[in-house]
Order: sequence, then C-alpha cells, then structure tokens
Amino acid sequence: MKIIVTGGAGFIGANFVHYMLEEYPDDHIICLDKLTYAGNIENLESVMDNEKFTFIKGDIADRLLVDKLFRDEKPDVVINFAAESHVDRSVTDPDIFLQSNIIGTGVLLDACREYGIKRFHQVSTDEVYGDLPLDRPDLFFTEDTPIHTSSPYSASKASADLLVQAYHRTFGLPVTISRCSNNYGPYQFPEKLIPLMIANALNDKELPVYSKGENVRDWLYVKDHCIAIDLIVRKGTVGEVYNVGGHNEKTNLEVVKIILKELGKSEDLIKFVADRPGHDRRYAIDPTKIGNELGWEPTTLFDEGIKKTIGWYLDNRSWWENIISGEYQNYYEKMYGNR
Ligand code: NAD
Ligand code: DAU
Repeated sequence: MKIIVTGGAGFIGANFVHYMLEEYPDDHIICLDKLTYAGNIENLESVMDNEKFTFIKGDIADRLLVDKLFRDEKPDVVINFAAESHVDRSVTDPDIFLQSNIIGTGVLLDACREYGIKRFHQVSTDEVYGDLPLDRPDLFFTEDTPIHTSSPYSASKASADLLVQAYHRTFGLPVTISRCSNNYGPYQFPEKLIPLMIANALNDKELPVYSKGENVRDWLYVKDHCIAIDLIVRKGTVGEVYNVGGHNEKTNLEVVKIILKELGKSEDLIKFVADRPGHDRRYAIDPTKIGNELGWEPTTLFDEGIKKTIGWYLDNRSWWENIISGEYQNYYEKMYGNR
C-alpha cells in the first residue's frame, strides 16, 4: 500500500510514521508536512534513509502542490494528521486554524475525489463534542454525542469532520474519522500540558496551572492512538466515526503532581494562573464501539506511560532544549508573561 500521512513531522504523526514503518515494512509512506513551528524534521531523522519513506515539505491547503502529489504518487490511503493543534494559540490567532484545518482538509478531499483512493482517514478529536460537567462522572462522549464546540480550534476540527462526512454522503468518498482524547508520549511539543510541565520542572521553573487545576482530561499513550488509527483504516467501516480513549481521567493538578513526584521536585513550583478563556471542563471518551467492532483496547496504562514519557524527555534533553531556546521564548512570554 502507498499511504500519504499528512502532518507526519508533528507529535502524533511522527509516532504514527515510526509505528507504520516498523509494522508494515512493505508499505510506502509519503509524509506531507508544512513544517510549521510544531513540525520538526528531527522527529523523522531515523527514517529519512528508509527507501519506503518519502518526505515532502508542503501545505495541505496548497491545491497545486497537493494535486501534483496525488497525480504523481497515486496513493491508496490518505491519513490526515496535519492541523494547527494548540487550543491556546487558536484563542490568540484563529485565522491559520481555519486555513489549515478546514481549507486544507477540503483540498485533500478534492484531490481524493479527483484521483480516487481506497480510504481517506481524518484524525479528529474529542474536543468536537465540547465538554462534560465535573459533577457528572457517569457521562461520557459517544459517537452520537452532538457536536458542540468551544474554541476556534475545536470549531475548525468539527468543520473539517462535517466536510469529510459530506464528501462521503454526496460523492461516496470512502472515509473514516477517529475522535481521540488527549495524547501524551515522545515528540510532543512543549506547549502542551505534559511536556511543558516536564521541561519547566527540569529547569526549576514555575509550573503554570490554569485556574485551580480541576479540569479533567482523559489521557492516552500516543502509541495506542496509532494502533487505533491503523485498525480503523484497515478494518473500520466506511462512513463511520470511532471514538478512541482509554478511560484514564485525571485532573490537571493530579497530572502535574505525578510529574513532580517522578522527577523528585517540590510542589512549590506549582503556580496557579489565569484560566484559559472558554476552558473545557472535562473530556471523557466512551470507547465501546472501537472495542466491540475492532477489538481495540489500550495497551499502555498511565502509570507506565508517564514514566516512559518522562524517561524520553530526560534522554532527549537536547530535542526540547533546542525548541525552547528559540522563538518559543516569545511564545512563552506572550502566553504566560503577565498571567
Ligand atoms: P502537532 O501540532 O504536534 O503537529 C501537527 C503537524 O501538522 C506539524 O508537523 C505541522 O507542521 C503540520 N501541519 C500543520 N499545518 C499544516 C499544513 N497546513 N499543511 C501541512 N502540514 C501542516 O499536532 P498533534 O498533537 O500531533 O496532532 C495531530 C492531529 O491529531 C491533529 O489533527 C489534532 O487535531 C489531532 N489530535 C491531537 C490530539 C492530541 O492530544 N495531541 C488528540 C486527538 C486528536
Ligand atoms: O482532547 C484532545 C485534544 O487534546 C487535542 O485535540 C488537542 O490538539 C490537544 O492539544 C489537547 O487539547 P487540550 O487543550 O486538552 O491540551 P493542553 O495540553 O493544551 O491542555 C491540557 C489541560 O491542561 C487543559 O485543561 C489546559 C491545562 N493547561 C495547559 C497548559 C498548556 C494548564 O493548566 N497549563 C498549561 O500551561
């Protein structure tokens, strides 16, 4: 199979590329990535010489480039990870979220229609369902939960999902969609909660927890997300949405305290800061459908996954130190300077 993976130089995309090249050495993976601030070619360094891997720098919203790529390569499968992915950035600069996440997905869908594919898979998010109240632990997101978005990021991802479903209904395009909960693991850019807290703790910097740290996220080790996407693409039913999550809810404060304990650092580093505008309270996935239909279940529990993740950031200090020594400083000052 020839598979186009968009956004493969980012966190989940890079983990997916490594997973696929190991699992399916005969498949050819073509990564299309714009290399935004979040895309890092270093994440793919170890596979650059693999003859079954091709990297192309480009924007999924660039119609000419995407057309040429499809015409030249005739992919069997397209898996769309490419997106602006950080909620806080979507609050300060929404425009690029509309461009990459909505227009970009539309351009890919048009190319799939034009050149024909066996499957287009959209990597979506549980954030399209909005949030759940903190005092109703009995409630979970199912695939039938209505779309109800909170941030420009989640609105752009929901818009992309609707386009994908429209191309299936109107043009018969063979699509699937996955909606996963919060991922963590190697290669995650240190603007997201877990790597940001690990990096700050290692540098003995304050750990900025929004509000009182009571918001809840449902954490999944990134490899389990990769396994789920692969299963959906190979065995999932065309036209269907699959929720992906491992019933691993934690408050942000719990997560931060676990990281501090693992690193032997003091909880005095925690600083409660102003909340994120529109901050979703709780995410919690009901993964019954993917479990029953495809036999998926998470393989890495949080206790093990967080140790592995912290170990990776300790072993790859230069990876994140390079990132936080550059333009990131301006980002950090803008987001946290007066918070
Ligand atoms: P990321 O920000 O780490 O990586 C995104 C990648 O996409 C980068 O390599 C970037 O260069 C590339 N990209 C951005 N705009 C592009 C464009 N216009 N054209 C080509 N490439 C472009 O994101 P991530 O956390 O790896 O998330 C990947 C996907 O998974 C996103 O679609 C996100 O919505 C979804 N998702 C993420 C999570 C999570 O917890 N991180 C959970 C569920 C779903
Ligand atoms: O649920 C899936 C989503 O998870 C993905 O679609 C997004 O791409 C991904 O970024 C993630 O979104 P969140 O907003 O949940 O992740 P983030 O790591 O930004 O924040 C997690 C929680 O931690 C959230 O409640 C906000 C809080 N937080 C975050 C940061 C960066 C803090 O308290 N302090 C911080 O400095």
